[in-house]
Amino acid sequence: MTTEHTDVVELLKEQHARIRHLFDEVVNTRGEERKQNFHDLVRLLAVHETAEEEVVHPFARTNIDGGELVVKDRVEEEEQAKQALSRLDDMDPDSPEFLDRFAVLRQDVLAHAENEERYEFAHFARVADRGRLETLARAVQAAEALAPTRPHPGTDTALKNAVVGPVAAVIDRTRDAVRKAIG
Ligand SMILES: [Fe+2]
Ligand SMILES: [Fe+2]
Repeated sequence: MTTEHTDVVELLKEQHARIRHLFDEVVNTRGEERKQNFHDLVRLLAVHETAEEEVVHPFARTNIDGGELVVKDRVEEEEQAKQALSRLDDMDPDSPEFLDRFAVLRQDVLAHAENEERYEFAHFARVADRGRLETLARAVQAAEALAPTRPHPGTDTALKNAVVGPVAAVIDRTRDAVRKAIG
């Protein structure tokens, strides 16, 4: 569980740190443990990127200098990451091909997070008052609390698909939850 943050920038940076940690955990484990770590990473990335797309980027787009362009680049990076994640989700996590593709995704997602921190989040404190940043933080936290969980690996695949579905479905359901949360 995440700790309570009232500052949206601190909260997002904390999620970036958790994402970085889970990428390492996937690489450093094998078999069932790797599947579990990958499964946790998919959910966290779905929650994090969806909350950014629904709440954080729209704020940046209209409030920071050159926001339109900064956000456009970040959204493109997120789209690519989601596609890569979907492809990985269909692969055997212990195969060499998975590891190769996973290494590329890791590099891209960590570069993406750095770009957000440097070109987007770094400007927030200057352009918004505390109250506004707290409202954003509450929306991001609500997204994490309300997002669907995926059944653990090992659960029957047909059941898994019926209950939650693959990466795209996790993202769709998270988006619905976020939209409900921000009303
Ligand atoms: Fe992002
Ligand atoms: Fe991010």
